[in-house]
Amino acid sequence: MKGEFEHFMKKEIHEQPESVVQTMMGRVVKDMEGAASRVFLGGMINFVSTIRRSRRIVLCGCGTSYNSAIAVRQLMEELTELPVTLELASDVLDRRCPFFRDDTCVFISQSGETADTLKAMQYAKDRGALCVGIVNTVGSAISRSTDCGVHINAGAEIGVASTKAYTCQIVAMVLLSLSLSEDSMSLHSRRKRIMSSLLELPNAIRKALLLDAQMRELAKELKDENSLLLLGRGYNYATALEGALKVKEVALLHSEGILAGEMKHGPLALVDEVLPLIIVATMDDSYKKQESAVQQLRARGGRLILIVSEEDDEIAKTAGDKATIVRVPTVEDCLQSVVNIVPLQLLSYHLTVLRGHNVDQPRNLAKSVTVE
Ligand code: UD1
Ligand code: BG6
Repeated sequence: MKGEFEHFMKKEIHEQPESVVQTMMGRVVKDMEGAASRVFLGGMINFVSTIRRSRRIVLCGCGTSYNSAIAVRQLMEELTELPVTLELASDVLDRRCPFFRDDTCVFISQSGETADTLKAMQYAKDRGALCVGIVNTVGSAISRSTDCGVHINAGAEIGVASTKAYTCQIVAMVLLSLSLSEDSMSLHSRRKRIMSSLLELPNAIRKALLLDAQMRELAKELKDENSLLLLGRGYNYATALEGALKVKEVALLHSEGILAGEMKHGPLALVDEVLPLIIVATMDDSYKKQESAVQQLRARGGRLILIVSEEDDEIAKTAGDKATIVRVPTVEDCLQSVVNIVPLQLLSYHLTVLRGHNVDQPRNLAKSVTVE
């Protein structure tokens, strides 16, 4: 089952160019010239107009599935022009969150069996909200009991650390955002750009996978560290959180992902010549702010590792000679998080192997948490 790969996690990381194709299969419709012209989600056609009339969209999940919600929130707000809020499933239940009949609540889960997510869904359903599933496992409890949804079709994910499900969840929710905005004339060119970038995504992921050797070398440098700090903002706040979660859960190395905009409000105190800082600074609307964060971190002697756009010659100069530069291919800004997570998945894999930990079954964790 693992084929040429030593571990499921590695296999699943390398499957991503194909798994995102599976997520898009039959759903990104091409015109006569082969260009992507529209999105068709069979499970959503009867629900699109209800969702468009909602008062807000709530995205809800646990762990990696919650991080995928963070990754798509900005785009979903832009394309639907509705408020999109985020909820951790366990917190919905703890707070007895106010949900209403005119809310659309989207539940994201690889397994479709996570107890907190399932209970949060039942809670939302009891309050009359429309419940949508973004689920990998066909026939799972969440898939069966939501009103409608999208199967991400990533294929079975065995490694406890979620990798291909994360990128496919993002792609599925980008498709959902596109299908919710089909009638908008003002968004026509933006939607076209996103759809054509979706078709380029498998190749961009393939190129990002070529960073494997560089990530292995970086893992050698970082394997004896006690802590890592990851900084991202905008579309890549999720990349910082998900990268940190991967390192934490499999490499058993403390790591923290932060919103770079919060850097000055606490985390800056940690910066010295020892703590490795991984900064996601690919070219999007947040780029100038990330460049200025790099300047400030360099001025404090920070140990910099940057994830940058392959065509960017500027930010490496700002970071200085001592910085490690990881170059990733460029896609449309709202899809860049799918590419940017790949080197961090590879890094966490190599850190785990070098530190001698169990890659596919990390200590104390389960693939599917079916108790509250
Ligand atoms: C469906 C078929 C797919 C087929 C395609 C052809 C299934 C599972 N999928 O895919 O094999 O190739 O038609 O047109 O038979 N749903 C939920 N909650 C969820 C996920 C999905 O209620 O969390 C519902 C959907 O609303 C839909 C059904 O399950 O009614 C299947 O969803 P999905 O597989 O995403 O639909 P299609 O892409 O149309
Ligand atoms: C568990 C897994 O905690 O559940 C995580 O170890 C996962 O990797 C989380 O992200 C949520 O799981 P699911 O199946 O609901 O996406």
